Amino acid sequence: MPDQTSPPADAATMEKIVALCKRRGFVFASSEIYGGLGSTYDYGHYGVLLKTNVKNEWWRAMVQERDDIVALDSAILQHPRTWEASGHLAGFTDPMVDCHTCGQRFRADHVPELQCPQKPSKSPGEGPSCDLTEARDFNLMFETTMGPVKDSGATVYLRPETAQGIFVNFKNVLQFSRRKPPFGIAQVGKSFRNEITPGNFVFRTREFEQMEMEFFVPPAEAPQWYDFWRQERYDWYVELGLRKDHLRLREHETGELAHYSSATADVEYFFPIGWSELEGIANRGDFDLTQHTEFSGQKLEYFDGQSGERYVPHVIEPAAGADRATLAFLVDAYDEDEIGGEQRTVLRIHPRLAPVKVAVLPHMRKDGLPDVAHEVHTALRGRMQSEYDEGGAIGKRYRRQDEIGTPYCVTIDHQTLEDRTVTVRERDSLTQERVTIEDLPGELAARLAAPWRSPKP
Ligand code: GAP
Repeated sequence: MPDQTSPPADAATMEKIVALCKRRGFVFASSEIYGGLGSTYDYGHYGVLLKTNVKNEWWRAMVQERDDIVALDSAILQHPRTWEASGHLAGFTDPMVDCHTCGQRFRADHVPELQCPQKPSKSPGEGPSCDLTEARDFNLMFETTMGPVKDSGATVYLRPETAQGIFVNFKNVLQFSRRKPPFGIAQVGKSFRNEITPGNFVFRTREFEQMEMEFFVPPAEAPQWYDFWRQERYDWYVELGLRKDHLRLREHETGELAHYSSATADVEYFFPIGWSELEGIANRGDFDLTQHTEFSGQKLEYFDGQSGERYVPHVIEPAAGADRATLAFLVDAYDEDEIGGEQRTVLRIHPRLAPVKVAVLPHMRKDGLPDVAHEVHTALRGRMQSEYDEGGAIGKRYRRQDEIGTPYCVTIDHQTLEDRTVTVRERDSLTQERVTIEDLPGELAARLAAPWRSPKP
C-alpha cells in the first residue's frame, strides 16, 4: 500500500463534529448536569443507531460472511491473574508527572505539547510557580474490589482490552466450536483505560468499545495471515465509504512494537487532528497462549488427532475501536453545501451505516396526507429504520434528515391520493423520483444494499 501525503483540509473540523453530535443528539458529555466527567460520553438515539450499525458491519464481516470465526462475549471482570499473565499489571503504564502547585497530572512524554492550567501560554513546568515531580509509572487499569468488604475483598480490574477474555477462553471454544486452526474468535465489548491525556471527543476516552478478533493459526502460516488481515481490515473501511486518500496502512518501526508483537500495522485515518490510529493489526506469535498456560497451569495448545501434531497456535489480531471508527465515519461524512441559496449541513454517510434509512414526510398536516404517510411508515419500519416526521416546513424537515445522514426522504403529497405514488428524494444527488407505495419497500431495500462511494471530493 503506498504511503501518502495528507489530503487537503475539508469541511469537517472537530468543533463542527462535536456541535453536530450535540445538536442532533448523537453524543453528549456524560453526567452533563453535574458538569461532566472527564472524557466519558453518552450516546443518544442517533449515536446508538450509528454505532450499532458500525458494530453490526464488523460482525457481518467477521462472522456472518466467514465460516472460520466464532463469536464470544466474555465478562468485563476477569480473574486478576489474567492481567499478570498478559503483562498489563506490570507494564500497562504511562510515565507521568504531578504538579504540587496546581494538583494536575500530566503525561511526562506529552509535557512539551501541553498547556500549564495556570499559565496556558506555557507548558507544565515552565510557569513561575510550577513544581513538577519526577516522572513515575502510572498503571492505566481501573481497579475495584470484589466482595462485600472493601478491605478484605479481592482487587479486580475493569478489562483494558477485550482480547484477554478471548485467550482465556481458547480451550472452551476449541472444544465446543469444532474448529481447528486457522480459526478466529471475535468479541465486541467495553474496555476501560484510565488515560492520562484523553481528549479529542470520542477518539480517546476512558470507557470505550473495542471490536477485536484473535485468529489462531499454525505457526508457519502466521506471516501470510498477517498480510491477509492487514488488507482485509483496510478494505473494510473502504467498502464502508471512507475515502481512500484519508486512509492508510502504516507498518510499525521495530522500536514501536509492543513486547508481544513481531509485526504490527495500523490502519490510520486522517482525522482533523492529523493521521491517527483507527485499528491495529498485530502478529502476537504464541505470547498470549504461552503466558496463560504458564500462569493457569492449563495447556493451551492444539492437538491434531489425525496427524498427531501438537502445537501452540500463533495469533493474528485485528483490534479496532467502535467509538473511534464511528468518529471516523462521521468526520468523513460531514459536508456543507448550498441549496437554493441556503446553507446545508449533510452527512454523506454509507447508507448501510446511516442511523435512519428513510424518513416519511407528509407534505402537509391535512387532507388525509398524515394517514397515508403513517401507512407508508408502518409498511417500511419492519424492514428498515424509518422515521415519521410531520412537524414544520418540508424544507426544514429535509435539512434535519440531511444532518443525520438519512439517505432517502419519502414525501406524501396530493398526487399520492390520486395515484398512490410518493416522491423519493436522495440525500446526495437531491434527485427526486416518483415510486408507487407498493414498490417502495423493495425499491428502497435494493438501493440501500447497492455499493456506495462518497461523493465528497
Ligand atoms: N488488544 C490490542 C489492543 O487493545 P490497542 O491499539 O490498545 O490494541 C485497539 O487498541 C483499538 O482500540 C485502537 O486502535 C482504538 O481504535 C481503540 N482504543 C484504544 N484505546 C482507546 C481509547 N482510550 N479510547 C477510544 N478508543 C480506544
